Amino acid sequence: MSAGDLQPLKPRRPPRPGSSVPPPADAPPPLKWAGGKRWLIPELTKLWEPYSRHRLVEPFCGGLGVALSLRPERLLANDINPHLIHFYRSLQKGLKISFAMENDAELFYRHRDRFNALIAQGKSDSGEAAGLFYYLNRTGYNGLCRFNSKGVFNVPFGQYKTINYQRDFSAYKAVLKHWEFTCGQFDSMEINGQDFVYADPPYDVPFTSYSSKMFLWEDQVRLAEWLARLTCPVAASNQATERIILLYRKLGFHIRTLQAPRRINSTGDRTPAREILAVRNL
Ligand SMILES: C[S@@+](CC[C@H](N)C(=O)[O-])C[C@H]1O[C@@H](n2cnc3c(N)ncnc32)[C@H](O)[C@@H]1O
Repeated sequence: MSAGDLQPLKPRRPPRPGSSVPPPADAPPPLKWAGGKRWLIPELTKLWEPYSRHRLVEPFCGGLGVALSLRPERLLANDINPHLIHFYRSLQKGLKISFAMENDAELFYRHRDRFNALIAQGKSDSGEAAGLFYYLNRTGYNGLCRFNSKGVFNVPFGQYKTINYQRDFSAYKAVLKHWEFTCGQFDSMEINGQDFVYADPPYDVPFTSYSSKMFLWEDQVRLAEWLARLTCPVAASNQATERIILLYRKLGFHIRTLQAPRRINSTGDRTPAREILAVRNL
């Protein structure tokens, strides 16, 4: 079935807690995005269900996997990545892609040049840029979104065996209709007592050689303190490093540690990751 054959969407009930969670067939997460939380959905569903009339707030929405599984009626989703947020806003308008999409290195680099030209011309908020962002995400290496110091998107070709591209995203229009997307720092968001916040920031990685330059330890502290000031129900996940556990515990969060699925990081380390789920006001 192609995306164009999809029927109008009914609101989807969240999966039963504890059940395995297949991606929603009608509007699955359309991008590849690091740190997907599908494995955590049964736990998040248990926390979310009693508050499902609240607005769900995701300060780090990333691949939108959580919102597209929980399907809140109202959502405020934020991310610091402007291309990602522009892509979601384009889905709200029923994005359709008309240019050629193939799993081919030559075409990939041509589309990458075009995407960079649009950015240089100040046209990164066009429908074409949103479509190219989707194509580059699906075709590039590991779904990475990386820019050099001059702001040039420089992810190489991904060399996947096969890619099923989607051209018609009109199925997403109804799902995202009442959702709001913002682009900025997490603590610029306006949260109220009727919200339910789920924060999935970049992981704390304690070894400097692996750590993200984009989200430093002081950002982790700023985030935890910001979350602790909120009066609504709050859940946050992170890597279960000692200092993260200590930070959230000191701020009065209730903490559970969970076993994340095995994954291979950029160093080839296959150690199963432990994560925390820290909650407050629940
Ligand atoms: C771990 S990912 C989120 C994964 C997401 N929950 C999912 O399931 O796909 C973290 C996200 O935080 C965003 N980010 C990084 N620093 C940020 C900041 N200071 N404020 C808001 N978003 C930020 C990144 O662009 C990235 O998309």
